Order: sequence, then structure tokens, then C-alpha cells
Amino acid sequence: MADVVIQATNLSKELTVSLSRRKVRILSGLNLSVLKGETYGLIGPNGAGKTTSLKLMLGLLRPSEGSVEILGEPAGHKGALARLGYLPENPYFYSHLTGREFLDFAGELFGIPAKEKRERMAELIATVKLEAAADTQMRKYSKGMLQRLGIAQSLINRPEVIFWDEPMSGLDPIGRRDVREILARLKETGTTIFFNSHLLPDVNDICDRVGVLNNGKLVAEDLIKNISADGNYKDLEEYFLDAVSDKVRPA
Ligand SMILES: Nc1ncnc2c1ncn2[C@@H]1O[C@H](COP(=O)(O)OP(=O)(O)OP(=O)(O)O)[C@@H](O)[C@H]1O
Ligand SMILES: [Mg+2]
Repeated sequence: MADVVIQATNLSKELTVSLSRRKVRILSGLNLSVLKGETYGLIGPNGAGKTTSLKLMLGLLRPSEGSVEILGEPAGHKGALARLGYLPENPYFYSHLTGREFLDFAGELFGIPAKEKRERMAELIATVKLEAAADTQMRKYSKGMLQRLGIAQSLINRPEVIFWDEPMSGLDPIGRRDVREILARLKETGTTIFFNSHLLPDVNDICDRVGVLNNGKLVAEDLIKNISADGNYKDLEEYFLDAVSDKVRPA
């Protein structure tokens, strides 16, 4: 059987609304697995629970019920964290640092030896095409430049699995194409990729499999090749719209 890299079982998250003390369920019974080398795209309307799912998988949030295993370890396990890369939805950076200094800091956190760290930094700065701005303070970066740097930092430890929250956000068409190319290369080297995005044509091009989250529930899941091949759907957008109107049978 193929290796399962990400396994969410009955994953649920409830929050207490502070004033009314009312409990709201923002994720309900998510069962999801991603195989080694697979590219999985989680899509869904704003507020569906995509970022919440990702944070639960990384151990940044605690589930109310259920569990997650990443690379065979429980979410948040240090050994597994060292082998994954994370691009947050709203990356917060130390704006007085230059891009290069920030990457250096990220490399330090992983304890990468100096020479190797310098090599990887140079390689990643080139990969995300930030050469001209690498020694500029991040407070002078545009949104797209920060996003490129966020992508670079998520790869500094040569992760086996990456979790990217809206990697194309804020990028111009050239940037989007660059990210598609980076993902294609990561895929070639066997990296397991889990990301969410609202850009359905990109999801369609990049992913092996997609899941649709709506109101905290996984309402549809299929291989991209099935969605386009079985003739039921013109494209991923139609599949998405059907799924969020409860027309697609739950996975
Ligand atoms: N800390 C919090 N306190 C209260 N509600 C929260 C909190 N975090 C998330 N939520 C709620 O949980 C739901 C899911 O949020 P989440 O950020 O996971 O959605 P999303 O699918 O990533 O949306 P988007 O596409 O807009 O990024 C939303 O209704 C949101 O308002
Ligand atoms: Mg989100």
C-alpha cells in the first residue's frame, strides 16, 4: 500500500464565541488522507475552514475531537515538524530584516549548517526570483515579494511535505506561473503537497486530487482526472459550485 503522509481522522474544531459563550463548530469530522508524492488541493468558500484544517494538521491548533498524523507522527511532533514546510495565510515577517537575513533566520531555526544554509538561501532566492531585492528590508517589499519570500522560507529545510495556505495570493500572473513551476519541480522530486487556493484553474493544473470544504465539512473529494474525464462537469469551477450547493455526493 502507498505511504500515507497526511492522515486526518474525524478532525473537528469547536470555538466558544466569547460574549455569548455559545459553541460554534468550524470543522466537523474531517477524514482526509494524502499519499506520499501526492498533490492535494483543498478548496472551498471563504470561511469554510481551510486555514483551520491546515493549522490543525500542523499542530498550531488543538482539535476538539479527532486526530492528525503527519509522516506517521501526531500533529505538532517535533521530528515531523523538521520535515515539513509551512506557508501561512498571512505571513508575519520581521520587517526590519532583509529577505536574505530572514531566510538565514529560518535556516538557523532548523539548525542547517552554515555552508549548506548559504547554498540553499542562494538557490531559493533564485527560485523565487528575489535576487534584486534580497538585501532590501522587508518593510519595503510589495505583497507579492513577501509572498515569494514566504514560499522560499517554507522550503529552506528541503521539506518532504509542504502545507501552503493560498500560495498564489497577491501574486501577479508571472508570479502565479512561477509558483506553478516551483510546485511542478517539487512534485518531480516526490514532495507531498497540501495547499488551499481560490484559483481553481491553478488547482486544476497542479493537483492530483481535490477536496471541497463547505461550512466545516468535506462535501466532495475526487481525483482531478475523474472530475474532467467523467463528463459530469465542464471544469473544476462547476464541480466546486455543485459541491457547495450540496449536489455532489459526499466523499
Ligand atoms: N480565532 C477564531 N475565532 C473565531 N472564529 C474563528 C477563528 N478562526 C476562525 N474562525 C471562524 O472559523 C471559520 C473558518 O475559518 P477559516 O479561516 O478556517 O476559513 P478559510 O476556509 O480558510 O477561509 P478563507 O478562504 O477566507 O481564507 C470562519 O467562520 C471563521 O470566522
Ligand atoms: Mg484561509
